[in-house]
Amino acid sequence: MGTRVDNVSERSHYNPARFFIHDLSLPLMESPMNPPVLSPVPSEHVPHLIPAWMVPLLALPIRRIWDKPSQTVLPLIQAGAKILEVGPGSGFFTIPMAQAAGPTGAIACVELQEPVRRRLEAKLQKRGLHWVKVRPCSDRDLQVDDLVGAMDLAVAIDVLHEIPDPPRAILAMARCLRPGGRLLVLEPKGHCKESVFQAEVGWAEQCGLLRQPALANLPSGRHGALFLREG
Ligand SMILES: C[S@@+](CC[C@H](N)C(=O)[O-])C[C@H]1O[C@@H](n2cnc3c(N)ncnc32)[C@H](O)[C@@H]1O
Repeated sequence: MGTRVDNVSERSHYNPARFFIHDLSLPLMESPMNPPVLSPVPSEHVPHLIPAWMVPLLALPIRRIWDKPSQTVLPLIQAGAKILEVGPGSGFFTIPMAQAAGPTGAIACVELQEPVRRRLEAKLQKRGLHWVKVRPCSDRDLQVDDLVGAMDLAVAIDVLHEIPDPPRAILAMARCLRPGGRLLVLEPKGHCKESVFQAEVGWAEQCGLLRQPALANLPSGRHGALFLREG
């Protein structure tokens, strides 16, 4: 199995062999996702982390006027769904997703900033949404190896443009999907150039995911793409 990493193209800006070397026994090693050839990060990608103090502003009710979870992510969720959310922030999407998945579901929220995690945990506890777990990570590693092949849905909303190594994050999310699982990527046009969003689409496809038809009801200020991991 390990020999397949020799095929890694020089186009890849980091060495996936290093990423995989510690988990060679994982079942996806023989999947089309291994080894993926990931295009370099374009120079237009300038990651900048939102300050933790600003994050609660993203969950103000006024946001629902232009950004409706019911039109983007909720149609992808059934009761009992297992969901990975990267960069949940103040839970603007997390809370409706948790309510849609219900207590038979499970949501893993991977959030970089500790104060953001603490506030989100308090919010979830107040609402009794105990099937949502908030997890730490590092800025270059989502630390989700325990979720490989397990998730129905992975979502990255307004976060990939903040991550220093977005292809690695997309690969980690793709690997967490079960066959038939889906990845939703939404980005704000104001912070994510078209070329960067197209690079994100390309990385998802290079990870073996199939882009699905255009999302209906996408707000005008958003890029968005939905991908499927074929069974
Ligand atoms: C712009 S906010 C979006 C929050 C939420 N998705 C929303 O739409 O309201 C981005 C969030 O992603 C988090 N974040 C940034 N880089 C991250 C990384 N490498 N891994 C996990 N979370 C990250 C930030 O701390 C912040 O909470």
